[in-house]
Amino acid sequence: VHLNHLLNNAIEAINPYAIQKDVNINVHADQDIYVNADPNDIEIVMNNLISNAVKYNKDKGTVDVYLEKKKDEIEMIFQDTGIGMNEDEKSKLFTEFFRVKSEKTKKISGSGLGLSIVKRIIDLYNGQIRVDSKPDKGSTFFVKIPVK
Ligand SMILES: Nc1ncnc2c1ncn2[C@@H]1O[C@H](COP(=O)(O)OP(=O)(O)O)[C@@H](O)[C@H]1O
Ligand SMILES: [Mg+2]
Repeated sequence: VHLNHLLNNAIEAINPYAIQKDVNINVHADQDIYVNADPNDIEIVMNNLISNAVKYNKDKGTVDVYLEKKKDEIEMIFQDTGIGMNEDEKSKLFTEFFRVKSEKTKKISGSGLGLSIVKRIIDLYNGQIRVDSKPDKGSTFFVKIPVK
C-alpha cells in the first residue's frame, strides 16, 4: 500500500473537524513510501491516531505527521500540541474502553476502543507503537512497521 496516499485520505477525513478547532495539520513525508499491508488496516491506524491528535488537541493547536522510510521498517509519527497525559493514563491507553475522564475531556466523545484496535493491528504486523506525552504539552505516537 502507498502510505502517502492513505495519509492524505486520513487527513481529508478529519479536516472538517480540524478546521472547526482551528488545528493545523502539517505533513513531513518521504516520497512514495510503500509497505506490505492491508490498506484497511493502515487506514484504521492512521484515522485513529490523526483523529485523536485533533480531538485531544487545544484550539489553534498543531498536528505534525511524519512518514519515514528506514532500512527495514517504516515509521509514522503523530505529534500533537494537545492536553497530553500523565504516566498513569499513558499506561492504560491501549486498554479496551479506557478513556481519560477529566474536565478537559468531558465534552469529547469516543468509545475508548480506537487505540486498542490500533495496537492489535500493529502487533499483527510485528510492529511497535509507543507514546511520549506530557500533560498540557502534548503527545507523540511512534509507530514502526517492518517493510516485509
Ligand atoms: N493524542 C492524545 N492526546 C491525549 N489523550 C489521548 C490521545 N489519544 C488518546 N488519548 C486518550 O486515550 C483514550 C483512549 O483513546 P482511544 O482508544 O482512541 O479512544 P477514544 O478516542 O474513542 O476515546 C482517549 O479517550 C483519551 O483519553
Ligand atoms: Mg480515538
